[in-house]
Amino acid sequence: MGAAASILPTPARALASALAGPDIARDSARPEYHFLAPHNWMNDPNGPIWWRGKYHLFYQVNPHAAVWGDMHWGHATSIDMVHWRHEPVALAPTPGGPDSEGCFSGSAVVAEGVPTLLYTGVQNVPPEQATIRDGSDKLRETQLLATAEDDSLRTWKKQVAPVIATPPAGMAVTGFRDPCPWREADGWYMAVGAGERGVGGCALLYRSADLRHWEYLHPLASGKPNGLKAVNPCDSGEMWECPDFFEVNGQHCLLYSSEGKVFWTTGEYDAREHRFFEKRRGLLDHGAFYAPKSFRAPDGRRILWGWIQETRPEGEFAKAGWAGAMSLPRMLTIGKQGQLQMNPAAEVEQLRGAVERATLKPGAVIRQKLVELRRELLMPMGIFHGAVTVRLLINRDKVWELAVDVAGNAVRCGKVSLPLPSLPWPRPILRIFLDGSVIESFIGGREAITSRVYVLKPRETELEISLTGKRSIEISQWPLAPISPDRLTT
Ligand code: FRU
Repeated sequence: MGAAASILPTPARALASALAGPDIARDSARPEYHFLAPHNWMNDPNGPIWWRGKYHLFYQVNPHAAVWGDMHWGHATSIDMVHWRHEPVALAPTPGGPDSEGCFSGSAVVAEGVPTLLYTGVQNVPPEQATIRDGSDKLRETQLLATAEDDSLRTWKKQVAPVIATPPAGMAVTGFRDPCPWREADGWYMAVGAGERGVGGCALLYRSADLRHWEYLHPLASGKPNGLKAVNPCDSGEMWECPDFFEVNGQHCLLYSSEGKVFWTTGEYDAREHRFFEKRRGLLDHGAFYAPKSFRAPDGRRILWGWIQETRPEGEFAKAGWAGAMSLPRMLTIGKQGQLQMNPAAEVEQLRGAVERATLKPGAVIRQKLVELRRELLMPMGIFHGAVTVRLLINRDKVWELAVDVAGNAVRCGKVSLPLPSLPWPRPILRIFLDGSVIESFIGGREAITSRVYVLKPRETELEISLTGKRSIEISQWPLAPISPDRLTT
């Protein structure tokens, strides 16, 4: 495990292609404009931060296999949040240390001018000391700190002792991880994902003057179990992962991942009592999307990335040599009634090639062959009263479908069915991004559905758009440029 830190030296891409072989670069299921690990397994985005003119994005990566395990912090830099350069692994487990079994998710902040990571380390312990109570009961989680040793954020110095060594006294946690710190007028605050059997998941709130000594206050927010008898407390809502707490447009938002979903809650934060009162909630994405992490870009925008999961069997992705992708950067805002709004960051538009426009009449169908699996579709919603259906076909067989039925007040995509977002829509449009096996759909700037479809092939896939109702709609489409020549995303 200790040698792992050296597995992705710069230039990481050359090495990655040597390790990955030619297949990964030719695998048409592998996205071409979404950020990916050079090869092998990746999951959560970690600690996005802007530092000295660059965006830095870290992420959970297993440098040794295309399955989850042996978690390290991968690292990539960008000047536009779209094109990335792979950097060497930022954090690797330290043999004998509190992160000897893995460097789990966390955040980055700048404290006294020093970029600082707060993350969860896991270590093998006897069952009675374990904090992960998911049936395996052998890992203890502690909250750890590392500071940057150079301006390129390639070298990190770990503080040996945990900054939080145990969960709050008297609490039999189901898990204790994924610290999310922020600064207030009187010091640092931090939410840590946790939960208790029979009680529910929660985000625990801590306070510190220096990021190194933390005092536990109380839960920032908590939920209830969903009633499912599950060994894994994440499935039963008895553990919240990856809390993300922030302010946008003068309102507060708490995101957390549990029950296989990402919940958003908006409401009021009492900055004197340090309590969050939820007023509204929803799902951040209705598809293969988990454990997102946001940050404040230098221009004030709240930008979020999430982990796009695999939906195929483990044996298949292990064989493919890669697993997981990062979502497009998504800009978050909160509407007047507390609704979370989300649109792809404007930077993504630079990938557009020449626009192709078409008018679709009610009762008509547009069908076209996709020469490349890199497309953006954009069409208005709300100005027609029927339904628009977008389909992908292989040999005339439907392999994916999204229907926005304005008359029936429903959005349907595979097993997902939800009501249309209630008015007002910030931008009454439907935007669909196709990239290899990934499809990210944004509905009315309010709902998102991320799908995985593995059977699509360039030149064999057909796109079909049909419309019912009374009015025509204008459809815009763009071919999107890949962000690397070989699907290795550097
Ligand atoms: C969420 C998560 C986090 C944890 C990390 C480990 O996907 O389970 O709670 O820190 O992944 O890779």
